[in-house]
Amino acid sequence: MNTRLKIAIQKSGRLTEHSLELLHSCGLKYSRGKDQLMCYGENMPLDLLFVRDDDIPDLVQEDVCDLGLVGLNVIEEKRLAFGARGVAPLFEQVQTLDFGRCRLGIAVPDGFAWQDPGSLAGRRIATTYPNILNRWLAERGVRAEVVVLSGAVEIAPRLGRADVICDLISTGSTLAANHLREVETVMHSQAVLIRTPVPIPPEKQEWTRRLLMRIDGVEQVKGSKYIMLHVPRSALPQVAKLLPGSEAPTVIPLEGRGDRVAVHAVCRENVFWETLEQLKAVGASSVLVLPVEKMLA
Ligand code: PRP
Ligand code: ZN
Repeated sequence: MNTRLKIAIQKSGRLTEHSLELLHSCGLKYSRGKDQLMCYGENMPLDLLFVRDDDIPDLVQEDVCDLGLVGLNVIEEKRLAFGARGVAPLFEQVQTLDFGRCRLGIAVPDGFAWQDPGSLAGRRIATTYPNILNRWLAERGVRAEVVVLSGAVEIAPRLGRADVICDLISTGSTLAANHLREVETVMHSQAVLIRTPVPIPPEKQEWTRRLLMRIDGVEQVKGSKYIMLHVPRSALPQVAKLLPGSEAPTVIPLEGRGDRVAVHAVCRENVFWETLEQLKAVGASSVLVLPVEKMLA
């Protein structure tokens, strides 16, 4: 009986580094050898499986892994593929994560006469996301030929295998290198945490709970700031309005400073220079903005 949690993450790609960083922020220590497909958590009873991102939903679906970190694009494609086969998708989305942002988009070769999605009628579109693309085309009443490829979609037009492509785009450099132009967004994507809906065995439950809580804590901290400032007590209502996403600021009297008080607050959003200038305008001084490292609700 295996009592160690199994987490599937992308072997190499846009999510790999951020996935490892997230787990590291959750306190996980691990060692990963070169080309190693699995690595052992040294200080937690969990193991990481390095796999192709497209395989992550299946591993969670089949209960080989308890959790997975994967792009929304991949799980949406799987959901539709399973749905088409009459199989209920079993993985559950726990939460979205603050990395891996990209979009699935239509790109056309230089010189292609693009006007609107209707321009795709009768054309061949290469993609690794046929289900998402077919739904998008159907919603627009466009009939086109979807050419399913397992990779290297961006070179399909040059090889004469397709007229246009539908692929993931983040920086756009792959498109630029292949003389392709992005013309339409099919869906936005980012990393998500998924879990098996099969009840996790009791001996794994405690660490699942702790890990999920830590992941949530790490995600909440991203973008959060701790702000400290001195203000006249009379300005407190205005200050409270200016602090972005803060709940109940702590107000501390300042010894021998008459009407002035110190305000400490956690802002659940970034604090920009404009906000600091507005705080100053209502009488704030000694303003400090600090990063938040850990948070446990
Ligand atoms: C995607 C896509 C492109 C590249 C685009 O591949 O297929 O090759 O990223 O990124 P860019 O706009 O920053 O150049 P991905 O890394 O997701 O790998 P995979 O398709 O093999 O999973
Ligand atoms: Zn992939």
